[in-house]
Amino acid sequence: MQVEAIAGALGAEITGIDLSSELSNSDAAAIRDAFLDHKVIFFRDQKLTPKDQVRFASLFGEPDIYPFIEGLPDTPEVIEILKAEGDAKNFGGSWHSDTSYMEQPALGTVLYALETPKAGGDTLFANAGAAYEALSDGMKAMLGDLKGVNSSEHGYAGGRAAAMAKLDGMKETDQAATGYESRHPIVRTHPETGQKSLYLNRSHTACFDTMTEAESKPLIDFLCDHITRPEFTCRFRWTPGAIAVWDNRATQHFAVNDYPGKRRRMHRVTIKGDTPR
Ligand code: SIN
Repeated sequence: MQVEAIAGALGAEITGIDLSSELSNSDAAAIRDAFLDHKVIFFRDQKLTPKDQVRFASLFGEPDIYPFIEGLPDTPEVIEILKAEGDAKNFGGSWHSDTSYMEQPALGTVLYALETPKAGGDTLFANAGAAYEALSDGMKAMLGDLKGVNSSEHGYAGGRAAAMAKLDGMKETDQAATGYESRHPIVRTHPETGQKSLYLNRSHTACFDTMTEAESKPLIDFLCDHITRPEFTCRFRWTPGAIAVWDNRATQHFAVNDYPGKRRRMHRVTIKGDTPR
């Protein structure tokens, strides 16, 4: 098995491993180490059933149920992300960290590509730990104990459920109209590596908990722009059978919507996380 970085800031591609078979202890440990070191890891040319994907995801923690989209009948932990030829919107098309509006947001996510456009539909990733480290001491001190209010409804003018309804192929759960809101530290410490990261994002962070939205906006905008500066990012070009596993505790991602009239179909599993501290 080889691990090769794909960019300076984060991301590594792992080759020489078949994820559909039972992994040896040493391969499993090497994959987990690469996940923590590189924050997002990629594999290509894999053939995974939904059950295989759930088993592989459990290498990183306990697979979870995503509240808003119906899972597959036999593997409810797996949701299908589909942008069909006639869809204008895509799922995940702005910078975010998965389920940051939950009390215990997803630790990580395993995304598996089934159908991809010939060109376009890449996913961008940003290293929120490197972004934190690059801040001045003054800014780090100011962020100190600030908390962000993260809402699943933030940024959806007509509500989240209405926006999701525009994605024809993705079936919402009965809970889709329910909003979630949680307060999390703006600077969180990774429970496994001890590294500090900025933990706020454009999609879900509405304001700081002790300030109004108007007061919070300039600093939220500055920090979100800072996290996604090109030097903190990498970009992954999907091919059928490719897999990405990202660490939501230290990264953000953005699904690029640049393939009008083309189809893109993925299977996604999120992994249960802890309370950000
Ligand atoms: C997501 O935000 O989980 C979807 C990412 C993608 O489809 O590239």
